[in-house]
Amino acid sequence: MLRKMFVIFGASDVLWMVFAVSQASQIDIFPSESKIFAQIGDSVSLTCSTTGCESPSLSWRTQIDSPLNGKVKTEGTTSMLIMDPVSFKDEHQYLCTAICKDKKLEKAIRVEIYSFSKDPEIHLSSPPEVGKPVTVTCSVPDVYPFERLEIELLKGNRPMKVQDFLEPSEKKAQETKSLDVTFSPTDEDIGTALVCQATLHIYDDDSPPKVRKTTKELEVYISPKDTAISVNPSTRLQEGDSVTMTCASAGLPAPRILWSKKLDNGNRQLLSENATLTLISMRAEDSGIYVCEGNNPVGKDRKEVKLTVQEKNFTVEISPGPQIAAQVGDSVVLTCDVRDCESPSFSWRTLIDSPLNGNVRSEGSKSTLTLSPVSFENEHFYLCTVMCGQKKLEKRIQVKPYSFPSNPEIEMSGPLVSGNPVTVSCRVPNVYPSDQLEIELFKGESIMMNKTFSKDVSKKALETKSLEKTFIPTTEDIGNVLVCLARLPIDEMEFELKQRQSTQTLYVNVAPRDTTILVSPSSILEEGSSVNMTCSSNGLPAPKILWSRQLSNGDLQPISENATLSFMSTKMEDSGIYVCEGINQVGTSRKEVNLIIQGRESNKDYFSPELLVLYCASSLIIPAIGMIIYFARRANMTGSYSLVEAQKVC
Ligand SMILES: *[C@@H]1O[C@H](CO)[C@@H](O)[C@H](O)[C@H]1NC(C)=O
Ligand SMILES: *[C@@H]1O[C@H](CO)[C@@H](O)[C@H](O)[C@H]1NC(C)=O
Ligand SMILES: *[C@@H]1O[C@H](CO)[C@@H](O)[C@H](O)[C@H]1NC(C)=O
Ligand SMILES: *[C@@H]1O[C@H](CO)[C@@H](O)[C@H](O)[C@H]1NC(C)=O
Ligand SMILES: *[C@@H]1O[C@H](CO)[C@@H](O)[C@H](O)[C@H]1NC(C)=O
Repeated sequence: MLRKMFVIFGASDVLWMVFAVSQASQIDIFPSESKIFAQIGDSVSLTCSTTGCESPSLSWRTQIDSPLNGKVKTEGTTSMLIMDPVSFKDEHQYLCTAICKDKKLEKAIRVEIYSFSKDPEIHLSSPPEVGKPVTVTCSVPDVYPFERLEIELLKGNRPMKVQDFLEPSEKKAQETKSLDVTFSPTDEDIGTALVCQATLHIYDDDSPPKVRKTTKELEVYISPKDTAISVNPSTRLQEGDSVTMTCASAGLPAPRILWSKKLDNGNRQLLSENATLTLISMRAEDSGIYVCEGNNPVGKDRKEVKLTVQEKNFTVEISPGPQIAAQVGDSVVLTCDVRDCESPSFSWRTLIDSPLNGNVRSEGSKSTLTLSPVSFENEHFYLCTVMCGQKKLEKRIQVKPYSFPSNPEIEMSGPLVSGNPVTVSCRVPNVYPSDQLEIELFKGESIMMNKTFSKDVSKKALETKSLEKTFIPTTEDIGNVLVCLARLPIDEMEFELKQRQSTQTLYVNVAPRDTTILVSPSSILEEGSSVNMTCSSNGLPAPKILWSRQLSNGDLQPISENATLSFMSTKMEDSGIYVCEGINQVGTSRKEVNLIIQGRESNKDYFSPELLVLYCASSLIIPAIGMIIYFARRANMTGSYSLVEAQKVC
């Protein structure tokens, strides 16, 4: 690859070897080459010596007879030309002349000058970045003769460019020569080395040229990119919260992270040089835009995040609930509870600004209003107003006094008698508010009546309300129950639904009826015979039996409470009307029998008085009269038995 460029400038070189004297005389120059290369600044000395001549006269000159720049030192048979330091003025063909008795000896040596004392320098136009063109300059300072210079730039082991500088210099001077290569580094270039090699081909023969080499590690950079912020827990915060923000940025070398906050004037205030920024106990003023910047020597990349810190609002809770039903006479405490306010101030009022009728106590974050005892005066919306600094909050609670102290009272207008109308009343005493009252009356499972009450707005007072219902009990109602249910659902306060009830068992009475008398053997008897008269009567409760004898004035004389009235041996005086009564609480049912005791000489052919009595007793007067007539005819009576008489018998 390397082209060897030689400029032949020794064409006119003549090796001067003049042997004008005897072979015994000789002249030598050291160094012995016909040409030497001397580097500017070095020290070079040429030595000329003779042999075979006892006291030669030695002298130095240049071929073109210009003045000698070096110093000459002659001693005996040796003369030295010293060039120290070597400079361009020393570049000549030098002749050493020795005169030995009339003989002249001469020898020449050429001194060529070069300069190549410094290593190449590698310079980059900018820090190398992946993908961005960068110019590498390799310069070789103070070179002479640069037409013999070759510069080669290698990346790793691979040559990038070779350059030589053929134009011969117009004047003798040291010059700095350089080579430029522009390229875009890739990821693969990370860690490779740039090598700049300068070669000065000063020799015309095959002697190895002078080489200088500089190596520079290629530090490839990547500008920060993909800068990202993670925020925990959120960018929306409340006063007092803490937040941790972590920023990451990719680049080579790893970017340095800077956190700052944007100020109102557009400047940024540096907060941290850590990737993680934690802000604690934040305040509303901490809201704003936070900037994370990743930077390294080749660039920077920014990312912004907006944090919003909400002011914490204080809260007011009023308990118990938005409404409270309070029993008249009880004690009720309303509590106003404040959160997130250091020193709240409280005030209570009613919606219509009437007196509170209660006691206020405020302490710390709590204020209570005690209503004791609760009265109608407390029927209000109560408002608790809280001031926290300049902020104000108000909460209200509705107090609804009520009264519903006892169970309903069930009352009947009288005893229950099957078939007789009776009025049942259900009273609910000392109720408030009565317009909320509902009364229902049930018989067993079925509703008999319900009632609600209209509002009496004019006054607030305890009232007694009742429901009345008239019904006719029957025997089927026996054992059934009456239920009176009173409810006081206070407005929408379902959970406060109050309910009270009373129960009464129905005891239905049945008046005595179907009273019957059984006469055995007959109600017409002969004197001395015995008779049993048995009375029975139905009713509820079971009727008591009372036998009486009707006196002539119509009064009844009680005889027995036994069902059976017995005569062991009847007498004439026992004749008469006997009355049986079935009696219970709700009535009396009576039946009578006419007992006829006859003398022994009674005639069988006459009409039977027994039949007559029986018919009379049955009060079947008209058929009985008919029968009397019938029997009278059959008995061939002469009208001595008058119809009036017969009626009297009954
Ligand atoms: C960065 O954070 C580390 C640990 O998280 C800590 O030790 C260091 O002091 C922090 N540096 C700065 C500048 O805050
Ligand atoms: C506090 O109140 C203000 C205005 O009433 C509102 O904008 C803000 O969102 C509230 N803050 C919270 C944490 O609720
Ligand atoms: C009360 O009775 C009326 C009819 O008399 C009925 O419409 C209403 O639903 C009843 N109310 C209740 C609560 O039973
Ligand atoms: C009347 O009753 C008694 C007792 O039960 C009985 O001994 C008597 O024989 C009865 N007399 C008549 C006439 O039936
Ligand atoms: C009622 O009958 C009982 C026996 O059944 C008897 O001991 C009593 O004396 C009777 N009373 C009258 C007043 O006849």
